[in-house]
Amino acid sequence: MISSASSSNYLDTDILNRDREVDLYSHRSQFPALEIENRAYFNYGGQGVICAAALDSITKNFHHIESLGCFSSAAGAWMMSEYDQTKAVIAAQLQVSPTTITLTENTTVGCNIALWAVNWQQGDRLLLSDCEHPGIIASAVQIQKRFGIEIDYFPLSSTHNASAEGKDSQAVVELLVQHLQPTTRMVMLSHICWNTGQVLPLKAIAAACHEQDILVAVDAAQSAGAIPLALDAMEVDFYAFTAHKWWCAPLGLGALYIRHEIYDQLEPVFVGWRGLTSDLPIPQWRQDGAKFEVASSTYPLYEALRIAIDHADSWGTQPARYQRICHLSQVLWQKLNAMPHINCVRQVAPESGLVSFQINRKLAKSAIAQKSHVLISKHFETEDKIFIRALADPDCLRASVHYLTSLADIDQLVAKLASLTF
Ligand SMILES: Cc1ncc(COP(=O)(O)O)c(C=O)c1O
Repeated sequence: MISSASSSNYLDTDILNRDREVDLYSHRSQFPALEIENRAYFNYGGQGVICAAALDSITKNFHHIESLGCFSSAAGAWMMSEYDQTKAVIAAQLQVSPTTITLTENTTVGCNIALWAVNWQQGDRLLLSDCEHPGIIASAVQIQKRFGIEIDYFPLSSTHNASAEGKDSQAVVELLVQHLQPTTRMVMLSHICWNTGQVLPLKAIAAACHEQDILVAVDAAQSAGAIPLALDAMEVDFYAFTAHKWWCAPLGLGALYIRHEIYDQLEPVFVGWRGLTSDLPIPQWRQDGAKFEVASSTYPLYEALRIAIDHADSWGTQPARYQRICHLSQVLWQKLNAMPHINCVRQVAPESGLVSFQINRKLAKSAIAQKSHVLISKHFETEDKIFIRALADPDCLRASVHYLTSLADIDQLVAKLASLTF
């Protein structure tokens, strides 16, 4: 959902004025990965960079547990306090109650919990968009095999030029609704498409699906930490994400939001002591997100996630960060559009940090430009310290622009792309 910040016309604002950019350089200096000379990092949609304070906290906390006595009541109390504080921080970012949060390791685990928690019956239908991540499609196919459900796909990719607001967004909702059937039980889709950067109108989608008693599960890998969120108001049923991309936390920390109203209809599949109350007979489930958690986790990592979020908040609010992301990705998109040998996948100004584009090999004459996008991205990384990923569908390069991205990073990428014509 695009809430307090609208994504359009950021080029008219002064968010990138010189003072703000100077601020950014002092903020960036706290990220070791961004301090490497002449490196331009555009892979935040794959994995974010970690600030020094978060990195330090990881070692510090492992030492702390050893000093407390690993499996001791003191260490146990410390770990539970880490757990509670971390849920509270994540919940505050999403504007929901901590009781709605299940801690996971990544987006895919959260999506799996949502997909498998439904009491599927043979003949039920699951609707996915045609832009979902392979891990989520794989999970859906396993559910199909296990329960004899049908999977439908709606052609979201055909609307990739639609914006998340106004008439365009209504057309996306209508397209999705046309693909609902009387036996559709759940719709699973991304908030921000990982391949095109398109932002989906989730509030309207959730409202349309709920009218027909259909659950809405969201893959939020590319949105959590990138876009301002107020999940209570959006009314989706599940929102699964990781913290290692746009929140710049360590790998291995994710979470799932589950709307309170649907708790009673859900059964956890993988279970363990974390989901249990101490009541007998076993199992008696906790009535919060812990019901879907299993057992021991890497608690010493949790503080790094909180530090990463605090650090981002210290630079600017979620709307301010989103505004800068949109502004910078629009700057990049305009520069790409000015190069005849580059074709942007979307013809509308970006509303997220993901900017996908193709190199037209006929117009870009250099030897490297004749190679596949995969080989071009490898070449950029090894020869030019430009980190950008290649995608298979659409066959393209994808730049992830973060609020941490600098104008100099964009200039470095654009100069490299310009050089592909000679
Ligand atoms: C849309 C989307 N879904 C899922 C994933 C997988 O994320 P994770 O490794 O957090 O499960 C990604 C990662 O790139 C993604 O972009």
